[in-house]
Order: sequence, then structure tokens, then C-alpha cells
Amino acid sequence: MVTQYIYGVPVETFAVVKEVAHGTELPCFSWEKNMTFTCPLGKEDMVYGLGETMRGINKRGARYISFNYDDFRHRDDMPSMYGSHNFIVVDGEKTFGAFFDTPAKVVFDIDSAGNGLLSVACESSDLRLYIVEGESAYSVVKEFLGIIGRSFLPPLWAFGYGQSRWGYKTARDISRVAAKHREAGIPLDYICLDIDYMDRYIDFTVHKRRFPKMAAYVKMMLEQGLHLVPIVDAGIKIEPGNAVYEEGVQKGYFCKNQDGRDFQAEVWPGMTHFPDFMRETVRAWFGSQYRFYTELGLEGFWNDMNEPAIFSTESRKKNAPPDAERGDPDQPGRHIADYKDFFHRLDDGRRISNYKVHNVYGAMMTKASGEGLEKLLDKRYLLFSRSSYIGAHRYGGIWTGDNESSWRMLRQNVYHMPSLNMCGFLYSGADTGGFGGNTSRELLLRWLAVSVFTPLMRNHSAIGTRKQECYRFRGTEDFQSIISLRYRLLPYLYSEYMKAALRQDMLIRPLAFDYPDDEKARRIEDQLMVGEGIMIAPILEKGVNGRIVYLPEPMTEVRYSGGSFTCMDVGAGERTAMAPLNTVVFYIRRGKLVPVGKAVSNTAEMDLLDVELLGSGTSYEQYVDDGSTKECSLDRCVVRRP
Ligand code: GLC
Repeated sequence: MVTQYIYGVPVETFAVVKEVAHGTELPCFSWEKNMTFTCPLGKEDMVYGLGETMRGINKRGARYISFNYDDFRHRDDMPSMYGSHNFIVVDGEKTFGAFFDTPAKVVFDIDSAGNGLLSVACESSDLRLYIVEGESAYSVVKEFLGIIGRSFLPPLWAFGYGQSRWGYKTARDISRVAAKHREAGIPLDYICLDIDYMDRYIDFTVHKRRFPKMAAYVKMMLEQGLHLVPIVDAGIKIEPGNAVYEEGVQKGYFCKNQDGRDFQAEVWPGMTHFPDFMRETVRAWFGSQYRFYTELGLEGFWNDMNEPAIFSTESRKKNAPPDAERGDPDQPGRHIADYKDFFHRLDDGRRISNYKVHNVYGAMMTKASGEGLEKLLDKRYLLFSRSSYIGAHRYGGIWTGDNESSWRMLRQNVYHMPSLNMCGFLYSGADTGGFGGNTSRELLLRWLAVSVFTPLMRNHSAIGTRKQECYRFRGTEDFQSIISLRYRLLPYLYSEYMKAALRQDMLIRPLAFDYPDDEKARRIEDQLMVGEGIMIAPILEKGVNGRIVYLPEPMTEVRYSGGSFTCMDVGAGERTAMAPLNTVVFYIRRGKLVPVGKAVSNTAEMDLLDVELLGSGTSYEQYVDDGSTKECSLDRCVVRRP
């Protein structure tokens, strides 16, 4: 059961779409006038949720700040990331969930002092607080997912392997990447186009010399089974002659500064204006701009720099040292005051600084693009964004931003997945191999072995770092093998994703959700449940060939290497699983089946129904469609038996 409590006059965030009953007396928390909500935690209580935040799955023991932030140094003590997902679940003496629905800053102190106190300080006094009751943490999450609406449904090709790098400059670069994958026998479904495809980083343009005859090029790539996925940044370059800029200025669609002029901020293209995504007319206008791409035959996009990221403004120089007055004591180094310097006009007429609605800016861009693409295309589109807020999960997925090539970040990827799922973001994943820094063969292989199980499986890296396309490494067949596992598992992974989305359920869960009474399973953070039948226990350490795996129940251990599966029944308890770099080991729960398909070089070649069934179950309910229809429903499930 969910109940809402309204304080002040909340700004519309579009997070919740279901009618929710109003309550009068707030349970679970004590409330102070300064909008701080506190609640004592039992000694053993766990706290889940908070989507894209650093640290483990149990968020207890630290402070987290919802204030969307573009910081490529993903350290453990970093309080904010690109998205704000203000939903927590307390699980223990009392079990309940709470969603603090406010677009302004929120500080979650989850017993950071170790004195058993949970406190949530909301900067705005206008908010909706949803209290979610349920018997277990998992049922609380399911109740919550039920009120925020169905997750985005990407096309089948979005579950294929994607290659990306900041630094591909021309159609020739892209063709070479495609050819090299083909030569190495590495399956591939899409290649991302980073900012260099544009004319001087101007959205809704294509660089004429680097990508001549774009429409023909897109078509030719599609004929090879490859989709191109361009990046779209939030800021519109200030430049006479740029039609989108001119129309935006003329119609008053951009955010304003203190004295009512269009606010200027420097991002990749130089000085830009930010579309005022808070207004419906502006969203519709921005969404319709994607026609430029869809007319070229493009069906997938990644939206970036939409926190929004700002390098400098008219009043603040680039890389200006954070001055105490303009900074934020909570997050030194951040130019928080930039966000107090520009304003939105809400649909109800209110003028409000970005600072007060900061956390939904990226989500509103996603909503704009998603609604636009929905109108422009008669099939499902791919969309993932860097910045997000709960609600944006209905229009697109997210990637977890500029991580680095480190074992710590690989582990963080594992922690992020269930937390993001709790907040509705089923379609997500990290930059596989790491964005910043130089990857290694070993790290990339282990990372791919994790990404096999995340809906978004994209290898992406920054300009200036070691190139990390799989074909560049010795022993390419090891990479080929792991990526082919992804494709062989797609009949299962796609089906499980679609069923989870359609049922408004999670796809990737902590063990604690499936084995709530198993004290040991409850504490495990480096193993995950993927769909109804699979448990993964990835290797997250350098230089090791195996690990200890905890099995809460007897399972089938599946080893995949050299293109074949070997299955063995194993008992409950701890066991050591050896997995050399070319091998992926995973587990199938007792009584479950996992359909696996044939090896293919992209999803266009795939027959979802041509499968063999692994595991000990007697039937599997498989979701099957043509991979792009908008008519998705559970009626499309077929029952498979061994
Ligand atoms: C941002 C994005 C990154 C992209 C880069 C250049 O840092 O997070 O993925 O490659 O901008 O567009």
C-alpha cells in the first residue's frame, strides 16, 4: 500500500503516474519544520535504494546528496552522481519504503555517524512524500514500481553489443570499427556516434565532410545489421543561422538569467542556451527536432550533458577556483551557484531557479525526446540518458556516466544495477571497460563478463585513453566468446527484461530479495539475480582465476567457454568456482529453465524461438515478439518445455 503526504505546493516531476491515496498522519518518520525527516534504524536494518549513488547495495553508513552532478572522478565518497533517485527502502525491524519526490536538493544521511539514525533533509518545503508499505523489501519495491509506471521498452537490437568511443571522427572510422568486429567474428549491433559526428558540436546537425551522404550511410550500415546511435547534448549552440537556436530564441523557449535575457553557458559547442524543458510546449518542440535524425533513418540516441553540465557562464570563468561563497560546503569544487543564476518558467506560470528544480532537468530532456520519438517512429526506439530522475525510466534508460578503467568501478557497476532497478531503471549499464584511464585485457574481459547480464552492454571510452575495442587485444577469441554468450542468452535476457518491464517488476535483484530468510544471502553484494532463473557471481578482482560463490539453494552451475555450455548440478552452500579469463560461470536456480539460442553476429540474424533449454525446470514462459513492435504485452509469452 502507498500513501502520499503533501507539503507546500510541489512542482510537477511526473515521477508518479498512479492515483495514490492521501494520508494525514505521517508514519515511520518524525518531521521537523526545516523539512528534515528522521527515523531510528534497528541495529541490523538494511537500507536499499537511491539508484545511481556510490557504494554498495546496502546504503547504510554514509551520506548521499541528490543534486545531479557531472564528475568523472567516481570516488567512493562522492556524494552525488548524474541522477537523483530519492527512493529508499528500510528493511529490518520495520520494513517500508519512502520516496521524497522533490526536484530540489535532498541529503540522505543513512546512519553515517553510526548512531542508528536515518535522516533525510529536503531543501525545499514543497514536496510529496510517498510511504510504501509491504511485507518484505522486495514487495515494497514492487508496490513502488507499480505507482511510477512501466519501464521503457527498447527494441531487441538495443540488447545487442554496442561499441563506442569518444574520438571516432568520420564515417570511415566507424566503418573500420564495424569491419574489424566482423573480421574478428565479434557480434555487434550498434556503434555510437560521439560529439564529432556533428558540425562543431551543434545538435541536430551532421558534419558534412566527415559524414557525407549520412542517410545513405545509415542505410548501408543497417543492411549490415548495424545501427548508429548519435549523442545529443542539452545545450543549443548560440549561433545565428542555427535554426533551432533561432526558433528557440524567437519563441522564448530557453532558460533565462536574472535579468530576463537567455542564459548562456559554455559546454562542448561553446556558448549555448538551455531549452526550458520544464514546459510542455518546449518539450514538444525539442522532441520534434529528432525528426532531423529519424529522417536519416536513425532510431537510437544517447542524451548527454543534461545535469546540465556547465564549463563556464557569462559571470563565471572556466575552471574558476571554487569560491567559498559560490560553492557548496557539502560538495566543495562544485559551482552550485551557476544553477541559482538561471530560471525556468513552469506551466503553472511560476518562475523558478534551476537550483530549485535542478534534479529533474535531465529527466525532462528524456521525456521530451521520448515523447518526440514516440510520435516520429512507428517502432520502438533506443534512448539512454546521463542525467535522470525517477519517472524518466518510462521514456529511456541511463548509463552510469564517466567511470574509469578500474576494478573498483567494475564492482560499482555490480552494485548499481539492483539499486537502479529498484528505482525503475531497468535499461541501464556502465561504460564497459571503463571510460577514463587505460583499461587492461584482463579488466575488459572481466567487465564484459558482467555486462553480458546488463541490458545496456556498451564498450565506451574517453578520447586520449588506451583504445579498447575488443579486436585490439591479443587472444581476440576470448572476447568473441564472451560477447557470443550475450547473444546466446538473449532469448532469456530479452524475455526476462520484457516480462519484468510489463509486470512492473525488477530484472536485476540483490540475493536478499529472493532469499529474505537466508542471513548469509542477505549480506551478499557481489552476486546478483538476473531474471527469474539466473544468479551471477562475477569475478571482480585482478589476478584471480576463481572465487568463492555462495549458493542459497542447490543450482545448476553453467560454464561457458569456447562457444559451449557445460552444466553441472551443485549443492547449496559455499563453493569455489574457477573461471579463467575466457570462461563465464553462472548459475540457474533449481526448477528453472534458461533458453539459449544459436551464435549469431547480430540480433537481426536471431531466431528467438530456436533455442535449447538449460537447467532443471519443466517449463519456461518466453516473451517473444519481432523486436520492434509497439504492441507489447504478456500475451506474447509462449510456454517452452524441454
Ligand atoms: C561526456 C560523456 C561521455 C562522452 C563525452 C564527449 O563526458 O559522459 O560519455 O564521451 O562527454 O561527448
